[in-house]
This record gives sequence, structure tokens and C-alpha cells, in this order.
Amino acid sequence: MILSVEPAGSGLQGELTPPGDKSISHRALIFASLAKGQSRLTGLLESEDTLATLKACEQLGAVSHRTNGEICVTGTGGVLKPPSSGVLDMGNSGTAMRLMAGVLSAQDFDCTILGDESLNRRPMRRIVAPLTLMGANITASETGTAPLIIQASSGLHGIDYVSPVASAQIKSCVLLAGLFASGTTRVLEPRLSRDHTERMLPLFGVDLPASCTVTGGSRLTATRFEVPADISSAVFSLAAAAMTPGSELTVRCVGLNPTRTGFLQCLQAMGADISIMNEDARGAEPFGDIRLVYNDGLKAIDVPESLIPDMIDELPLLMALAVSASGVTRIRGAAELRVKESDRLAVMANGLRKLGVELQEYPDGIDIVGGNASGGFVDSAGDHRCAMSFAVLGLVALAQVQIERAEYIATSYPGFIDDMSRIGAKMHCLDIS
Ligand code: S3P
Repeated sequence: MILSVEPAGSGLQGELTPPGDKSISHRALIFASLAKGQSRLTGLLESEDTLATLKACEQLGAVSHRTNGEICVTGTGGVLKPPSSGVLDMGNSGTAMRLMAGVLSAQDFDCTILGDESLNRRPMRRIVAPLTLMGANITASETGTAPLIIQASSGLHGIDYVSPVASAQIKSCVLLAGLFASGTTRVLEPRLSRDHTERMLPLFGVDLPASCTVTGGSRLTATRFEVPADISSAVFSLAAAAMTPGSELTVRCVGLNPTRTGFLQCLQAMGADISIMNEDARGAEPFGDIRLVYNDGLKAIDVPESLIPDMIDELPLLMALAVSASGVTRIRGAAELRVKESDRLAVMANGLRKLGVELQEYPDGIDIVGGNASGGFVDSAGDHRCAMSFAVLGLVALAQVQIERAEYIATSYPGFIDDMSRIGAKMHCLDIS
């Protein structure tokens, strides 16, 4: 699919409630599937990624149905059944694969986990290593990628794991395995990554005896859980409004977990007029409404390295935003971008260059010189966040921008084009199949 975006003739106006948070939705589904009893989940993201997790949970014995906007999941009580085909397909989702690998490494049956072409290229030694230390029988391919082959476990033991990367997927994988292991399992990371797992487990009845620590044998119990809107989706309309003169936009009920708000801090540092209203906490996760009023002239910033984990998924969008800012925006310490759904530094650099943007790419970052983007064709490389970032840039480009392989937007934000159109953007799909 090609997504075609016209330059915005006027400001973006209105209100939106973006879809449910993807990270929290994956966890809500996995935890509900492990729990005893029926959990009722509201506001859950229903996108290709989270539906891959739900399908895997059902293949392992959880049962779900929808009623009145809720998804009810009857859990397994921690006793999973082997999937009939022996294989679980996680599609494009790294979170689904890495978190489920933690759970499956502790089960008494064999199982293979794989994904689509992009996921099967992503590094998995980062979870195979700690799981092996815990006694799991898990192997990746020679290149350290999926398929992951897991053999029946005869019991895991807890570990203290010092993770080399600030990654919530590694942390959550190890903690989930730790729930089934003997003793305690603790994860230390170089910087705090998103902490949804630690915040959500207590709601499912699991007490963490210390930070990032679980006790083996802890049982999950069903609960009601409301998922806030995804800040990683909300940022697209916010950035579009920050770049488009005359815009006034409110996004509602957005998750404001401090481990996720780095992009808002950068947007403010660049001069955007943002206010947070109606702050509250929902299911251990803070949320609120974000209002942005267009404010002439964004300025470039040096993105503080300490903020990188808090905005890791928003960095492609920040690169698009940097084109509208006066001066040179510098991003460093972001080598992790090279192992996401695509090599996001390379994909964004290539696309921006094609649109005439001056930039310098580094192994762990990029410098982007503010100016104008011309129109033209860019390839999203099948990466949802790159596709949406180019689409936002298209609103302030000098001519139409067409984005190739934009169908992957459905992995995280199936309603993106509708939401953007509702606030006045002119975007449409050209089906090339
Ligand atoms: C996620 C963690 C992050 C993030 C991903 C979702 C999660 O990945 O990029 O989109 O839900 O735990 P890493 O753990 O690899 O940093």
C-alpha cells in the first residue's frame, strides 16, 4: 500500500482519543492469560501486533470474548497447554516474541516461536542468554535470530541479571520466566526502561519484594484493567499540529508514564506550546489530556541521551519534526534504533535525504538540519513508525509525499489515516495490489 499525503492547507483542529497503549495491551493480555479467573480489559489496542499476542495466548489455553467494548480473558491459572501445531507466530511484534519466550521457556512442553521477515531478523541472543542462565533450553538460529526453539523445561532457577541494554522487553522476559522459577529473579538495567510490567504485576496480585524483582511461584489473579491511550500513537497528531501553522489539538486519555514521556519533553524544549490537563491514574498508569496550540517557530535541540529510553519509539518522529525546526537537531546514544522493526536510523536518513533534507548519519544517531522537505517517494521499509513519521512530515512538505509499504501502520495504529483525516490532514491510500 502507498500512503499519499498532501501538504496541509490549514491548521489541524479538533480532538482525538488515540488507540490503547501497545506495550500495556500486550502485557494485559499475557498477564490475564496467566491469571486464574476472568479478567476484563477495556481500551485494549486491537492492532496486528496485539492480536498476534491474543492469538498466541488462545493457542496456549486462554479463552477470550468481547462484550460492550471490553475483552474478557479467562486465564489458564498458569497451567498452559501446548499449542497444537507446536508453533506460535508473533507476526511483526518484538514485544510478543520476547515476553512470550520468557513464559514458554518455563513450560513442560516444546514450542517454536517465529515471526514475519522483519521480526525474524531482530536480535534474540539478548533474551536467549539470560533464559539459558536460568536453565532454559532455548536456542536461536546461528545469527542469533528467530525462530526460537524451546524445549520442555525441567525447572528454571532465579537469577540476578545485569542487562547490558535498557530494554523493557529483556527485563519483562526475564521477570516473566522468574515467576515460574525457583527463588527470586532480579533485573538490573543501565537506565530504567518502561516499567509497565513492574506497575501491572501487582494489579494481577503479584507483589514485587523489591524493585524489578519477582518471587518464583507467584500466582496471578484476574482483574479489571483499563488501558490508557498510547502516547506513542498520540505523538503523531501532536507533532503534526506542532509543525502546521494554525493548529489547535487535544488528545485525550493518553498514558503519561514518566518512562514514556521523553518526546513531550523534547517537543516542549523545541518551543511547542503544550499543556497537560485532567491528569489521573488508571490501573497503576498515569494518564491525562494533552493540548497543543501551534506556536511559531520550533527550534533545534540536542536530545539529552538520558531521555533516549523514554522516547525510543518516538525518535523517527523526532527526526521528521527536526526538519521543521531552525538549526541542527542532534540525536546520539540511539544505536538501539538499528535493531527495531527496521534499521530506523538508516530508513529515516534515506527517506529524509530523498525529500531533500540535509543530514549526517552516525552509528548511534543523526544530525538533521532544519529546512524544507520537498515532495516525493519514500520507502518506510515496512516499519509502521517510520511510515507514520514520513506521513507527518508530508503535511509540511512542499509537495505531495508518497510512502511505500505503509500497510504496516496497522501493526500499531490501524485508525491512523482516519484520525489524521478527522483533524484535517489530507491522506489517502493507493492500493497497489
Ligand atoms: C517495548 C519496549 C521497547 C519498545 C517496544 C515496546 C515493550 O523495546 O521499543 O516498541 O513493550 O516492552 P526494547 O525493550 O527493545 O527497548
